[in-house]
Amino acid sequence: MEQLNICVIGAGDLGTVHTEQWQALPGAEVLAICDIDETRALAAQKKFGIDAVYTDYREAFDHSGIDAVSVAIPSGVHRIVSEAAMRRGYHVLCEKPIAVTRQDGEAMVTAAQECGVKFALGFCKRFLEQVHKLRELVQGGAIGRPVFYRHASGISVRPKLWIMDKEMGGGPIIDMACHYFDQWRLIFDSEPVQVKASGLTLSTDSPLMTEYDPEVDTVTILVEFASGDVGSLSLSWGLPPGVSTETMEDVLGPDGVIAVNGLDELVVQTEGGETELFDGLDANMFEREIAAFAEAICEDKPVAAGGEDGMIALQVSLAALQSIETGQVVTL
Ligand SMILES: NC(=O)c1ccc[n+]([C@@H]2O[C@H](COP(=O)([O-])OP(=O)(O)OC[C@H]3O[C@@H](n4cnc5c(N)ncnc54)[C@H](O)[C@@H]3O)[C@@H](O)[C@H]2O)c1
Repeated sequence: MEQLNICVIGAGDLGTVHTEQWQALPGAEVLAICDIDETRALAAQKKFGIDAVYTDYREAFDHSGIDAVSVAIPSGVHRIVSEAAMRRGYHVLCEKPIAVTRQDGEAMVTAAQECGVKFALGFCKRFLEQVHKLRELVQGGAIGRPVFYRHASGISVRPKLWIMDKEMGGGPIIDMACHYFDQWRLIFDSEPVQVKASGLTLSTDSPLMTEYDPEVDTVTILVEFASGDVGSLSLSWGLPPGVSTETMEDVLGPDGVIAVNGLDELVVQTEGGETELFDGLDANMFEREIAAFAEAICEDKPVAAGGEDGMIALQVSLAALQSIETGQVVTL
């Protein structure tokens, strides 16, 4: 692999993950890191031995020799930074969700096409062995078709408050649900056609949210696919501090059930209660995501998940918000 020089924008949780993986990848080097919070940027520089630190992405993009940019900042500012990077001719790996609005997402897809750069979306779950095993089991008829995929979980208001905000993060319907909308497309090998949702904003009066405008934080979303398969998400990020629910995730089919445990285990149960366990599945998703993006650049291959995939997931999220507002089923 040829040498790849990287600039990472954002030195928070995911910026740190990207930086660590880039620095560990043979043939790649992070030349510059940028965060509006200088303390964070300096801490990442020290931890990962990076040459240059910036607090303004435009100055970071002037750093000589950059090939690609990792964007790991709040979703409401994905567009301004990603588009600027693309217009400078840099390949971009942007964290999911693509954006919080359709206009921002579409502008990013257009910029990547116009600039002829690789544009990958951080749908890291595409790199989980568990998701690929699920696809193999569902496609192979292990529990029959069609299937009904369920996930339910509830946690307290996220300490990272921007993620709850309508303009910066979009709450769980945009920030978290996009992972499921994307992985269901892969597992069902089909596209979403219809969305229904009901939801509430439990955190409206939370003293934590005084500086933010919280998006719906508690929701049940049903997504029907062209294949007849259905995905169901029941999420809350609106519970009081210290309060959470058990997480439940499984796939129901006419011939059995697949329990989805954590990120590395599946248990298939078929007629008569017979079970088959798949454990120790490779959950090292970020290492594989970064390596796949580098390969797409160096060998001029398609990215695993791109802007169009990001837009499909965002459209399902926006349809869920529309369904909550109107009480109607939304056809995609
Ligand atoms: N793939 C995943 O599973 C996953 C998990 C968590 C977060 N994310 C996504 O990653 C992105 C970042 O989330 P995070 O958890 O790292 O957030 P974070 O709050 O931990 O870090 C974000 C950082 O961006 C910086 N920042 C904000 N605006 C900036 C700008 N204009 N220029 C430079 N720096 C700026 C902040 O100062 C902060 O340090 C979000 O889009 C989020 O949805 C993805």
